[in-house]
Amino acid sequence: MAQIISGKELAARIKQRVSGQVEELKAGGVTPCLAVVLVGDDPASAVYVRGKESDCRECGIGSRMLRLPADTTQAQLLEQLEKLAADKSVHGILVQLPLPAQIDEQAVIAAIPPEKDVDGFSPVNVGRMMIGEECFLPCTPAGCIEMLKSTGVPIAGKQAVVLGRSNIVGKPAAMLLLRENATVTICHSKTEDLAAVCAGADILVAAIGKPKFVTGDMVKPGAVVIDVGINRDENGKLCGDVDFAAAEAKASFITPVPGGVGLMTRAMLLVNTIQAARRQTG
Ligand code: GUN
Repeated sequence: MAQIISGKELAARIKQRVSGQVEELKAGGVTPCLAVVLVGDDPASAVYVRGKESDCRECGIGSRMLRLPADTTQAQLLEQLEKLAADKSVHGILVQLPLPAQIDEQAVIAAIPPEKDVDGFSPVNVGRMMIGEECFLPCTPAGCIEMLKSTGVPIAGKQAVVLGRSNIVGKPAAMLLLRENATVTICHSKTEDLAAVCAGADILVAAIGKPKFVTGDMVKPGAVVIDVGINRDENGKLCGDVDFAAAEAKASFITPVPGGVGLMTRAMLLVNTIQAARRQTG
């Protein structure tokens, strides 16, 4: 049976460290502050944003919540971002995705100054990550790497398979695994023999957003399984992209859902916000 990688425990440790760093910053006259912009009323996004707000409060980070109606135009959103970009008391800016259809996501992301882009989504930060320069790492992939490292299982030289190729998770997760010297394969909807590719993975990162897509036969005995998915199963219960019970029987380590990667995503956002505040005021 696999050992569980607890997002709850790891995130709690990170938050404790962040709280100490907030105290240091405050002693120097700086209150780190994160602005979170939510457009529209997607219920999942509303839950995520509330979580981010409460994390900030818990660690002593200031948060500025901007809730805009679903019919907000791109120009209106860009105007708000311009104000936040110019506001010296705001160190990090996060625009919750997805955005309503009338808004061009990439145009919005590009409007966040790279030094405040705590999501690590802007072209400058993505580019810096690609070439291994200092940058904000996207929170979910960075959280996956932290979870992997917590196992003590070496990453270098291992076969890592990433299921999913989104800009938010799949692509950057593959890049970070490569940085750790894994041999990386990205699988997606057009991949042939996907199950066989997954079954060869020493490290399997599932980020395709399909409940229990990864079945037991797709998990190599002894593999480390990182489940990024947050889905509802046929009974409305929260589940990941991995069939947990089946994978747990074969993996050496596995992340649970809930209580796994999601909590680490939130923790890494706090880490990035501290980094932003330090860089802008140091
Ligand atoms: N939507 C889903 N995940 C994320 C994330 O990490 N950041 C933002 N801004 N939106 C998201």
